[in-house]
Amino acid sequence: MPQHFSALRILTFRLLALLGLALLVASCQPAAPGSGPASAAGTPGTLTVYSGRTEALVGPLLDRFRRETSIDIRVRYGDSAELAAAILEEGANSPADVFFAQDAGALGAIANRNLLAALPDSTLNKVDPRFRSANRNWVGVSGRARVVVYNPQSVQDQQLPDSVLGLTDPVWRGRVGWAPTNSSFQAFVTALRRTEGEDVARRWLEGMRQNQTKSFANNTAIVQAVASGEIDLGLVNHYYLFAIQKDQGAISARNYHPRDGRAGAMINVAGAGILATSNNQEAARRFLDYLLSPESQTYFTTQTFEYPLLQGLPQPQGAAPIDQIKTPNIDLGSLADLDATLRMLRDVGAL
Ligand SMILES: [Fe+2]
Repeated sequence: MPQHFSALRILTFRLLALLGLALLVASCQPAAPGSGPASAAGTPGTLTVYSGRTEALVGPLLDRFRRETSIDIRVRYGDSAELAAAILEEGANSPADVFFAQDAGALGAIANRNLLAALPDSTLNKVDPRFRSANRNWVGVSGRARVVVYNPQSVQDQQLPDSVLGLTDPVWRGRVGWAPTNSSFQAFVTALRRTEGEDVARRWLEGMRQNQTKSFANNTAIVQAVASGEIDLGLVNHYYLFAIQKDQGAISARNYHPRDGRAGAMINVAGAGILATSNNQEAARRFLDYLLSPESQTYFTTQTFEYPLLQGLPQPQGAAPIDQIKTPNIDLGSLADLDATLRMLRDVGAL
């Protein structure tokens, strides 16, 4: 009996030890993506979208997707650069399935760290190669053209310089407006650095400052200042003019796409990519295809006057046809280097 007893004790002890070891091993396993509350990289059946586009704009589109697919969507709204920073910090534990950014640079910042999944050709091929990642891991959804908005009462078409680089000429002294805090302006400066080099970009910014370029808080204020005659030209995106005219009727302002087709004529995109860590790849791909459907594309065109990127659709009312705009040969994903642009803008006193 004592022998029996001790054998049982040893067996019990061994069983407990094994159980303890099993628990210890289980607790030491790195959490698989998607498991555990802190690392919910996609809850199956629920798509988590980080959106750099506002709720007012994309809310109705998301509602229609929910109705049509029965896939639920959770959204974190924010500034595109801040959302990109959040995804970089969250890394493999990011709950995001999809990143819908307002500019390609924010997508490039994520793509550069290999955090985006490759997209199928069927999705990528919906848009012109100019408007998607060269590495095939994000796709443009709508187009946002840089323009010079001008007042036709004070500037004749033929007086407009071929390039924004020409705006440092003394003839434009005190007559031009820009919005240095605007992210589209900053993306343009990054494009200028990439296409013309750091020195040319810096000298241009200094020249513009010396030429008494006026700073505005945003692009809407610039277009209104042009229409009122406070300034004659402004560096903005193409759709502000149309948005203001929708509200106020015709104003004395026109868009000019610089003839030289360099950085000042760039067409940036709002676009989307799928996180490589997402457990919802299939639903995420459906969502991207949904954003590129004729209905969603037309929604952006009519709501924001942005260019549809799915080919063959009507252009925003009043806008130059996108295939007639000469644009620089630049990989939009390479506009990720925002920090150096901000440093340069501060160095020259523009920020
Ligand atoms: Fe904008």
